[in-house]
Amino acid sequence: MTVKSSEQLDIGVLPLTLDGEKIMLVDQRHLPNKFEMFDATSLDDMCFAITDMVVRGAPSIGVAAAFGLASEAIRLSKTSRNKVDFLKRLNDARLRLQQTRPTAVNLRWATDKLFDEVKEKSTTYPDVHTMAATAMDCAKRIFEEHIDTNRILSEFGAELIQPDSAIMTHCNAGSLATCGWGTALGVIRSAAKNGLNPSVYVDETRPRNQGSKLTVWELHQDKIPATLVCDSMSGHLMSAGKVQIVITGADRIAANGDSANKIGTYNLAVVANYHDVPFYIAAPISTIDASIQTGESIPIEERHSSEVTSFGGVSTSMEGVKVYNPAFDVTPAKLIAGIITECGVLRPPYLESIALALKQKDASH
Ligand code: MRU
Repeated sequence: MTVKSSEQLDIGVLPLTLDGEKIMLVDQRHLPNKFEMFDATSLDDMCFAITDMVVRGAPSIGVAAAFGLASEAIRLSKTSRNKVDFLKRLNDARLRLQQTRPTAVNLRWATDKLFDEVKEKSTTYPDVHTMAATAMDCAKRIFEEHIDTNRILSEFGAELIQPDSAIMTHCNAGSLATCGWGTALGVIRSAAKNGLNPSVYVDETRPRNQGSKLTVWELHQDKIPATLVCDSMSGHLMSAGKVQIVITGADRIAANGDSANKIGTYNLAVVANYHDVPFYIAAPISTIDASIQTGESIPIEERHSSEVTSFGGVSTSMEGVKVYNPAFDVTPAKLIAGIITECGVLRPPYLESIALALKQKDASH
């Protein structure tokens, strides 16, 4: 199996490409000013790349981690004493990767899926090299499934968009974040492709500015009209009737529909509900964590204070100021009009519609 390029697939800029065991990541820390690649040639490199947000966005983190684990499997196959030793070391690598970012469940989902597949068949494999090759095949499959999934869910989402609508989004849920086409941005792309002429208000998304740096850049590539706004401007825009629908991605969705996404999403959902603007989440089924009943159990990553006290390396506050920097918040299910997935648009009560979608997805495998 080969990994196709983004040009071949027409899905936007892919966050990663593969060259043998080397994984080349688009360094999302420097976009849109510099387009640079970051070569992940070891497990340490990949752990750093995920932690430091060279690669980010829940689905892309999952895919990158799967490739990181598969590449490690190939390296381990050259030095492991036997299958048991190989599996033990692969498991250690999986656990290390899973600790890099705690909120996005796709990271755990992808690395568990890959490890379980290798482990399950280990007795039937002749040697560790075959096991490592299986790991790489599995990573490629996870990657290719994402592209199909995003396209399908985006078509479902596009049906919610009225012609000439202004859509508001937060953070970046485009091709860079999802490994092809996008989820929230995928819906917007599909709406544009279907001739609905959408325009987009993009929240800048402090403190890391994924909106102003990445979403604006992706929309520009697609020639979809975009207007950049500060995160605090949504109430003003909605009170003036300028936003018809809000769509964001998600990093983890609990069984009851509570959804964790980039910090500020909850504020946006509250403002949207106050103004009767429908608020939607777009995410693949792999973002659902059915082991978690409500959003209260979703771990929220806290990041370094410097993300809040500086901008582009320049200090914007007093030295030594106390900082709180949660990277995500949880939007309660009752504020969400629908969850756009590859199994269709899930509606409240989510406990039922999510359980049904999970069954449907299981049956299709
Ligand atoms: O901290 P990030 O940039 O990884 O956070 C990304 C988001 O919050 C996205 O909205 C989310 O991962 C969904 S991407 C489809």
